[in-house]
Amino acid sequence: MFKIIDKTQFSEKVFKFRIEAPEMAKHAHAGQFLMVRANECGERVPFTFADWNAEEGWIEFIFMVIGKTTTLLSSYEAGDCIQDVTGPLGCPTEMGEGKWAVIGGGVGLAIAFPVARQLVATGHEVHAIMGARTKDLLLLEEQFRSILPEDHIHITTDDGSYGEKGVVTAPEERLIAAGDVDHVFCVGPVPMMKFATLTAQKYDTPIIASLNPIMVDGTGMCGCCRVQVDGKTKFACVDGPDFDATKVDWNDLRARQAAYRTEEGQSLKAYEEANCACQK
Ligand SMILES: Cc1cc2nc3c(=O)[nH]c(=O)nc-3n(C[C@H](O)[C@H](O)[C@H](O)COP(=O)(O)OP(=O)(O)OC[C@H]3O[C@@H](n4cnc5c(N)ncnc54)[C@H](O)[C@@H]3O)c2cc1C
Ligand code: FES
Repeated sequence: MFKIIDKTQFSEKVFKFRIEAPEMAKHAHAGQFLMVRANECGERVPFTFADWNAEEGWIEFIFMVIGKTTTLLSSYEAGDCIQDVTGPLGCPTEMGEGKWAVIGGGVGLAIAFPVARQLVATGHEVHAIMGARTKDLLLLEEQFRSILPEDHIHITTDDGSYGEKGVVTAPEERLIAAGDVDHVFCVGPVPMMKFATLTAQKYDTPIIASLNPIMVDGTGMCGCCRVQVDGKTKFACVDGPDFDATKVDWNDLRARQAAYRTEEGQSLKAYEEANCACQK
């Protein structure tokens, strides 16, 4: 059992948990993730390490409520215990020399933030490009602002309710064309990553994508997270989650992510109707 030692609510649907996990805290790196099983009958779901402290023995992850498991987790409070937390899993993000654009869309901002923070901490120049469908869905603005200067934050919303109206590729292209960035990291919905990749490719700018297929074990055994990269099958949990974005088969990833939409919807509905079919 893993104790929640602190719970922070950033907005209606976004939370951060600090968990007592001294061994994990000793080994975590930016870009790696952990698998959580909320209770004995829960599914295993992946979250990226948002922060960790080896001396104090804790790790943190930030999550957005979108389905059954994240709804259940959001009901946990400090002092409660999570059944299992496994990690660190996956490969750390490789942070080569250069001036970086870190692009996050939607819940991808929770994954982008620790990467941006680590790049800043290791002396890189970083621009954050933060995208959301609408203002209320923009995550972690305050956290990004706390690590970057004002003119290095670029916000877009699809409906124009905040920041620039449009999508992340507009500021991405401006920054690359002006020579302000020469490396890109992106994470978010598949169409966003695909178009961010095409934009970077236009300027021969290297781009990494953190892929988010459905994962089950997170250790390379089940094959659920397989993705096509450069015509080869890779397992995102052990070979990634970061890959050269120019080599990713986006159509395959999109189809695999959507494979269980019906069941996910049914599961959330059943959970909500029972108001906690699976007590914590
Ligand atoms: C490596 C990795 C790191 C991630 N880091 C974060 C993070 O830091 N913060 C965050 O909010 N989210 C993160 N996610 C996404 C997160 O795992 C899903 O939001 C979560 O699993 C949703 O579960 P649910 O039961 O609430 O929703 P469901 O209704 O079950 O699913 C909603 C959608 O979430 C995704 N999803 C569902 N189950 C899984 C699964 N087992 N593995 C992967 N994706 C799944 C699918 O796209 C699905 O369509 C990450 C995903 C991956 C692969
Ligand atoms: S999640 Fe099972 S092989 Fe990657």
